[in-house]
Amino acid sequence: MHERRFRPSQMHRLEDPDRLAWLPPAEVLAHLSLQPGYTVADIGAGTGYFTLPIASAVGSAGRVLAVDVSPEMLDRLRARLAEAGLSSVDCVEAEASATTFPAGSCDVALLANVWHEFDDHAAVLDEVRRILRPLGRIALLDWRPDVERHHGPPLEHRIAPDVAAASLTRAGFRLAQPLVLLPYSWLLIGAKEPSRPA
Ligand SMILES: C[S@@+](CC[C@H](N)C(=O)[O-])C[C@H]1O[C@@H](n2cnc3c(N)ncnc32)[C@H](O)[C@@H]1O
Repeated sequence: MHERRFRPSQMHRLEDPDRLAWLPPAEVLAHLSLQPGYTVADIGAGTGYFTLPIASAVGSAGRVLAVDVSPEMLDRLRARLAEAGLSSVDCVEAEASATTFPAGSCDVALLANVWHEFDDHAAVLDEVRRILRPLGRIALLDWRPDVERHHGPPLEHRIAPDVAAASLTRAGFRLAQPLVLLPYSWLLIGAKEPSRPA
């Protein structure tokens, strides 16, 4: 059960400084066009690799809703937020498919390095669509299946970006930008369409 889920015992790997070289948060966030005052859901936030820079980008008028199923990950995230003096982040222990946030309450949702861990992608996308405002954006980032890297998830767990793009379209998102390829990751940005495809 949950054999693809990242183990909290490995959380130090998410904070390895080496990561900054091949997955620079600023480069990823530049594609999200974040504005001061935005509310951003960071789903599968882990220990906050993206949560902290997002909180800086949206400023004190904005809000970050950091969701994770793992209480250990959230404990570590809370400690990092306290150390950084950031108070604009809510840490929420919840399933990605049931965040509990109000409908239409988020401008952007980021799901980074977690897509390959989900059992039910359609259920997660339905929830993201529900919490996004009209024309709100989803950013999906995950491991490339065409590039081997010893400490990433096994190749057979990784999902190709065209398969993820088809899931987005089926769930009522329009691809808002061309696919972005990073050294070991792909990034897709979708915009919430007013209505879902029939
Ligand atoms: C590989 S970590 C990535 C963390 C962070 N996004 C990053 O890139 O550093 C994946 C995280 O997603 C969480 N996760 C996995 N399945 C989830 C689910 N169904 N709902 C919420 N969180 C989930 C795990 O607990 C883990 O903290």
